[in-house]
This record gives sequence, C-alpha cells and structure tokens, in this order.
Amino acid sequence: MTADILIAETPRLQLVVPSPERAEEFCAYVERNLDFHRSSMPSPPKGFETSAFWRDRLAERFHHHKAGRLHGFAILCDGQLVGDMSFTQIMGEPQHSTVLGYKLDRSVEGRGYMQEALGAALAWMFDERKRHRIEANVRPNNKRSLALLERLGFIIEGYSHSYLRLDGRWCDHVRLALFNPREVQVIPSSLDLSLALGKSMSQA
Ligand SMILES: CC(C)(COP(=O)(O)OP(=O)(O)OC[C@H]1O[C@@H](n2cnc3c(N)ncnc32)[C@H](O)[C@@H]1OP(=O)(O)O)[C@@H](O)C(=O)NCCC(=O)NCCS
Repeated sequence: MTADILIAETPRLQLVVPSPERAEEFCAYVERNLDFHRSSMPSPPKGFETSAFWRDRLAERFHHHKAGRLHGFAILCDGQLVGDMSFTQIMGEPQHSTVLGYKLDRSVEGRGYMQEALGAALAWMFDERKRHRIEANVRPNNKRSLALLERLGFIIEGYSHSYLRLDGRWCDHVRLALFNPREVQVIPSSLDLSLALGKSMSQA
C-alpha cells in the first residue's frame, strides 16, 4: 500500500501527492464536479470517470513527482479530498518556470481554501523546486480565479487569443505570472486589467 506524500500543512488543510489508493475518491470528486469544472478544463479523456483510470493516473503522477517532471497535489480537509492543483511544463535552464492549474470541489468554494492551499504550494515550488516564474492562464470571465491570483500577488502579463480548447471550443485566456520573491529582482508591474480584458469579457 502506497501512502500519500505530505508536502505542506496549513491551519485547515493538508497538501499531498495523492496515493493511487485514492482512486475511488478522485473518481467521485471528478464525477460530482463535472459541470462545475467543465468550463475550465479540456474535454476529459476516455475512462475519466472510472477508478481504473484514476489508479493509473495517480500512479503515473506519483512517479512524475519523484522524478520532478510534474507535481500534482491533492488538497485535503480532515483527510477528505476538497480540491487539486498541478504544476506542469516544468522547464529547466534558462526558464526555471512552470504552469499552474487548480480547482476546488464545488461544495467548498468561498471558504478561502484555494488561497490557503496555493499559498503553501507556491512557497514549496519557490523554495524546494527553485522556480523563478510560475504562470497561470485564466478565462477572462472567470472572476473568482482572477481575484484569487491577484490576492496571491500574480500580475497580468497579457492576453492569449484562442489559447486552449475547452469544452469543445478555442478560448481566449488572460496570462498571469508570479516571480520568486526570494530572488533579488525588479518586479514588473501588472497590465491594466480593464485593458487586458477589454475586448472579450462576454465571448471568451
Ligand atoms: C477558481 C476557484 C478555485 C476559486 O475558488 P474561491 O473559493 O473563490 O477561492 P478561495 O478558496 O481562495 O476563497 C476565496 C473566497 O472565500 C471567502 N472566504 C471565506 N472564508 C475565508 C477565509 N477564512 N480566508 C480567506 N477567504 C475566505 C473569501 O471572501 C472569498 O470569497 P468572495 O470572493 O466571495 O469574497 C473555484 O471557483 C473553482 O474551483 N472553480 C472551478 C475551476 C476553475 O475555474 N479553476 C481555475 C481555472 S483557471
């Protein structure tokens, strides 16, 4: 039996690399949140709603975590899965960057859990994985996600047209980034949000 790998604990949450033993739990989580997550994730691959799929995916992610290729974390509250996040596209020299994605269980939205979990995860990525830059991409109409990233100190860098195919169509995204606060550097200023979002708040 493989145990979760504990990454960080916060006042209310634990951040772990989930063991493949959590396959059933992941399966139930994605199934009950299909509608909630639909507009922010690519079309699910075949078998996505089966525990066999999750057993394989979690085993693969466990392996990737140990090799430093990808970090997929589960957010637990009292041991129960309430959200997840991933750091993908981990680039070495000279970028030292990664791309962040995240989502909550609908039932716990509005409690500050994601801010608390991301606070710990970002610190881990900067301190342990020595990232210089962490990027996130958000649909312009996803106000909660934009507000969350701004609270965490991300700055808006630009607007990417037709960036990702989600729920069957190409969608524009706002690109944001956070830089390692442990490094001595000039922190760039954010683009004006209204300028960045000006054109397609309604269509994207
Ligand atoms: C994006 C997403 C994670 C944001 O969730 P969220 O609950 O708004 O973010 P947080 O967990 O940081 O919670 C902040 C909210 O909790 C409230 N809150 C309550 N108690 C709190 C506490 N103790 N500490 C901090 N905030 C608290 C805040 O006031 C804020 O609510 P408000 O915006 O209505 O004022 C969530 O909407 C989601 O999973 N959406 C679907 C998937 C998705 O869009 N992913 C992102 C793709 S880019």
